[in-house]
Amino acid sequence: MRAKIIGTGSCLPDRCVTNEYLSTIMDTSDEWIKSRTGIRERHLVSSETETTLTLAVKAAKAALADSGVLPEELGLILVATVSSDFITPSTACMVQKELGASHAAAFDINAACSGFLFALNTVDAYFQAGIYQTALIIGVETLSKIIDWKDRSTCVLFGDGAGAVVVKAAEEGLIASLQGSDGSGGDILICKNRTNNNPYISTGTDPDFLYMDGQEVFKFAVKKEPECINALLKQAGFDASDVTYYLLHQANFRIIASIARKLKLPLEKFPSNVSHCGNTSAASIPILLDEVHREGKLSEGDLLLLSGFGAGLTWGAALLRW
Ligand code: ACO
Repeated sequence: MRAKIIGTGSCLPDRCVTNEYLSTIMDTSDEWIKSRTGIRERHLVSSETETTLTLAVKAAKAALADSGVLPEELGLILVATVSSDFITPSTACMVQKELGASHAAAFDINAACSGFLFALNTVDAYFQAGIYQTALIIGVETLSKIIDWKDRSTCVLFGDGAGAVVVKAAEEGLIASLQGSDGSGGDILICKNRTNNNPYISTGTDPDFLYMDGQEVFKFAVKKEPECINALLKQAGFDASDVTYYLLHQANFRIIASIARKLKLPLEKFPSNVSHCGNTSAASIPILLDEVHREGKLSEGDLLLLSGFGAGLTWGAALLRW
């Protein structure tokens, strides 16, 4: 049995922050951000009632409603995030409590922007092993809390949000997938955790913010993602043109356009929401999937290819039948 997505949901924070607004609080411009990334606006949490947990729960409830699955039917809840509210308990356990999904095992996955794909692969492996039959996967981030708002080269790129899918074990769903990691490249996109001030060591007082070498990440993405997509298509025995839609991690529209060019495919096959969401890391693929689904663009039997790259470094791709 394979993982079949049977419901989607998403949630963006209420506050929409435009490039124009950012240009009033830092030295940047709509033109600079738009021309380099395609981003026009992003949503950021702006009250204590909007957290990683509350965004995740809203997205999860929407996905459950879309699927018709009840919380108590869930066997597994996986949350992909690098910006959980607590170190422990995991966001997944907190979601389980909020939903009343009392039969579900729950844990978080940290694979940065590839996290949703790693979670989908994990669920699929559990399904193939016959351990679970129904799962909830959430990609959620409140990256705005780990970003240095004085660093204009990173803070304009990211947004907050959550996307979720309900997945059932079925004869047809996920067809093939690939995932990979290269820890040796980890320092080009990095965010350290809290410091250690035990009786023997003192490494400081403040946790670091996210650091990114934008150009190195760009080079990595435009090389690795098409390689990964081509390898997956070859493994599954499909041509690039067989795929109905490519739902790629939404980091930068120039990266998406570069991948479309490398695959010799029209941009129409690459739906994008980076213009109004920015880069929402692990949430970006499930938010995009939910938007495309709710816009009525998907038909039963469509072939979807999901792919992304992220900190770690990590990358992944999944080919599935809708
Ligand atoms: N507004 C105005 N100017 C800026 C800003 C800003 N927000 N940020 C940087 N600049 C300036 C820089 O200071 C620099 O000025 P200088 O030439 O006087 O030194 C100039 O703009 C050019 O900076 P670059 O870093 O060379 O700009 P580049 O064209 O490389 O674009 C960008 C930067 C958009 C970050 C690009 O490198 C990129 O898209 N990289 C990939 C980012 C990405 O996808 N990250 C993924 C994030 S995490 C994940 O999803 C896994």
